[in-house]
Amino acid sequence: MFKKIFMFSFLVVALNFSGALAGDAEKGKKLYKKCAACHNAASGAKHKTGPNLWGIYGAKAAIQDGYKYSDWLKGAGIEWNDEALAAWISKKKEKAAYFGKDVKKSKMIFAGLKKPEQIADLIAYLKTLK
Ligand code: HEC
Repeated sequence: MFKKIFMFSFLVVALNFSGALAGDAEKGKKLYKKCAACHNAASGAKHKTGPNLWGIYGAKAAIQDGYKYSDWLKGAGIEWNDEALAAWISKKKEKAAYFGKDVKKSKMIFAGLKKPEQIADLIAYLKTLK
């Protein structure tokens, strides 16, 4: 358990201090292909397997109109800031270390990204969706 927390802290620290924090939105846009199978990313676009991610940065989780979220996500009280987004799109271990093991009850099936730079780039792109 402590090991997991340590590993996640390491990721957050890496994101904050490696200079990768700013991320590169252009690179992030390319990486978004990994998400696009399930998520539209345009104002007013329809939901797919996952909800439209327009305006997701800074939003509370599970509030997009007309999408049927898992009970877990509805009750999780998440706000999509840098740390929460980074954990959400990380590998299983980091994800569980941040959100708790019940995160597996959420509906998003995604292997997770390993490289902190890629995670930072994707978040930089998500920030432009407003
Ligand atoms: C195989 C389909 C799939 C892929 C690929 C996928 N997602 Fe998801 N995503 C989902 C589903 C389904 C949900 C709803 C989760 C729930 O209700 O528990 C979701 C939820 C989310 C949410 C929460 C939305 C909200 O309104 O609270 C975010 C943020 C998110 N995904 C980001 C991403 C990003 C970024 C990627 C790419 C790195 C990605 N997802 C890849 C299916 C996917």
